[in-house]
Amino acid sequence: MQVHGGSIALAQLRIGFDNFCYVIYCATQKKAAIVDPGFDATKALAFLSAHELTLLYIILTHYHSDHTADAQRVRSTVPAAKVVCSKEDGQRLSLRPDIEVSQGSALNVGTVHLEFFLTPGHTPGGICILVDKKALLTGDTLFIGDCGRTDLPGGDLSHMFHSLHDILMRLPDDVIVYPGHDYGETPFDTLGNQKRTNKTLQAKTLKEFSMIP
Ligand SMILES: [Fe+2]
Repeated sequence: MQVHGGSIALAQLRIGFDNFCYVIYCATQKKAAIVDPGFDATKALAFLSAHELTLLYIILTHYHSDHTADAQRVRSTVPAAKVVCSKEDGQRLSLRPDIEVSQGSALNVGTVHLEFFLTPGHTPGGICILVDKKALLTGDTLFIGDCGRTDLPGGDLSHMFHSLHDILMRLPDDVIVYPGHDYGETPFDTLGNQKRTNKTLQAKTLKEFSMIP
């Protein structure tokens, strides 16, 4: 488990072989959000208990079951917590979201500010979450060294290119990318380093992007 103290209050929790679940928390007000409980929220729930955190939000970056399967258990455990998802992917969930977010939506977890970006491509309503303008949780949109698949149902190559190049690439280089899977050489990296090394961010045109193996 990777826990960032100081200005980024974020726990990166490995679920199974390569999924990442995150707990965003405000240490001052003891509030928290779980991002992508995955198929086993045991670690995330234990983290909340260990740090005496009140769960406000269960945020789902997209509807795929490896990110969402245990969300219902979390909601049953903490009935006051609100399920947060995009409208597009919320329609594909087995549970009903309480809050639908879109491009530019914002929420607060205590003193921690969350800004949402709608980044379709892997799914029609994938979202990324910018935490205090310092950490970017990218779900299956951007991985370290790669991006999410676009050949699954609802995936779209041109939407992914737009999401990566017109939305995520415009964020500052010192933002740290926290992906939904541990597919890269490191579990997280600066966006600036990814801009320089990630093949999917280096393609200049949709045609170049489409030819990446
Ligand atoms: Fe996915």
